[in-house]
Amino acid sequence: MRAVAVSPAKVILFGEHFVVGGNTALSMAIDLPTIVTIEEAEKNAHIISNDLGLGITFSPQGEVLESVGLNAEGTLRPIFEVAKHTLDQMDQSRRGLKITVRSNVPIGMGLGSSAATAVSTVSGIATLFGKEMSREAIFEAAYSLERIVHGHPSGVDQATVTYGGLIAYRAGRIRAKLEITSPPLLVIGNTGMMRSTGKFVGKVAKMRTEEPDEYSRIAADAQRICERAMKALREGDQALLGSLMNENQKLLELIGVSSPELEGLITAARSAGALGAKLTGGGGGGCMIAITKPEYRSKVAGAIEQAGGRIVPSAFAPHGVRSSREE
Ligand code: MEV
Repeated sequence: MRAVAVSPAKVILFGEHFVVGGNTALSMAIDLPTIVTIEEAEKNAHIISNDLGLGITFSPQGEVLESVGLNAEGTLRPIFEVAKHTLDQMDQSRRGLKITVRSNVPIGMGLGSSAATAVSTVSGIATLFGKEMSREAIFEAAYSLERIVHGHPSGVDQATVTYGGLIAYRAGRIRAKLEITSPPLLVIGNTGMMRSTGKFVGKVAKMRTEEPDEYSRIAADAQRICERAMKALREGDQALLGSLMNENQKLLELIGVSSPELEGLITAARSAGALGAKLTGGGGGGCMIAITKPEYRSKVAGAIEQAGGRIVPSAFAPHGVRSSREE
């Protein structure tokens, strides 16, 4: 018997970083699946990622008993912590598990890879043991653990991959699930520069305490942009969304989370006819998004590649995490 759980990835359309300080963010699930298979094992936790060439065995207390591949513990311990927390919550602490992760989501690039893995792991474990877990409970479990591991995340990543679709998120909760007829046509460009979201969240937190007036002014502008973007999304006004993305990017530059590499790809996309472009996620590297008319899509993608970026192929994912049991 095993359970298989599949989560989408995510792109933040508007409001990253400002959401940590209490603003709204608009975030969209994309169909890059993270697939986690959960099987019962003797007593330890075996975690395997064939894509990364990593494997590790933890004792129930979290000691590393065996490990294969470079920095297997650094990469895979968060999955152990999520699994342990989920088993504890279900009074199944004595169970051993084999957890196999398969994913094409680039790690550390702002597309929610760690949230997708955590959410799939929680959902898969619950399904294996026949526990009904609401989306809210899955989100809470993944988010509460992320708070322990990473300091002060907003939870927007976990919410997006749990619920799917396009969400407006603020202060720990989904405020609205936006029902849209046609999702924005995005091109996602990856700078290939891995970075730590936590580091940039810390940098913005420093600005919030050291320059509160300046920060508040910028955050108020970011909130206004988000509110206008919500309306533009509902009305399918792509041109307005593009110019709001450009405005949002300026604010992200002001709080110091952009980078020359990101700006190189953003400028290339705009010059090739994109309606607008900005970084997405934690910044400092990772990915950018551009919104385009269909007829400019390949030109914009080509320009991003010419500027040194890699295109991440993806489409809107209306569904969040799903899991099932297999004999
Ligand atoms: C990361 O995808 C989004 C950030 O706003 C961090 C967070 O919300 O926890 C940068």
